Amino acid sequence: MKLKNNTVFDCSVIDVSKVHNEAGNITVAENLKNIPFEVKRVYYLYDIPGGEARGGHAHYELEQYIIAASGSFNVILSDGQNRKIVTLNRPNFALHVVSGLWRELDNFSSGSVCLVLASLKYDESDYIRDYREFLKLKK
Ligand code: TYD
Repeated sequence: MKLKNNTVFDCSVIDVSKVHNEAGNITVAENLKNIPFEVKRVYYLYDIPGGEARGGHAHYELEQYIIAASGSFNVILSDGQNRKIVTLNRPNFALHVVSGLWRELDNFSSGSVCLVLASLKYDESDYIRDYREFLKLKK
């Protein structure tokens, strides 16, 4: 399968919107409305021990919205040429990670929750888990 030649500059932080009232906030993500793909899967990372990093892979096809539903963490993106570090710390903002990029997540605050909206079902064959392999495929 061919790896997409997307770059880190194709990823941006999107305002998912927020409805605020005295009783608190609500943020809504709706397929093809304020998300540019159809969500096929939702998962969340939590209870992440201090100092741990997650991710460390790329995807051939999958794209994601990554949201700090609680707390904060960093997402480090690489396309083999450029790196971009994004701090997520507000539940109404999402980082759109397009396919074909290496990503790592670190610096999780205590009690943080990383919510991921994904465009595909889980499929291990969509993963590249070796960074040197990723660099080779990206050339
Ligand atoms: P992994 O993708 O390595 O996690 P992260 O990128 O957050 O560090 O997944 C960790 C484990 O969870 C791995 O054994 C695969 C499994 N997993 C599923 O079974 N389904 C899923 O949707 C995801 C995201 C992971």
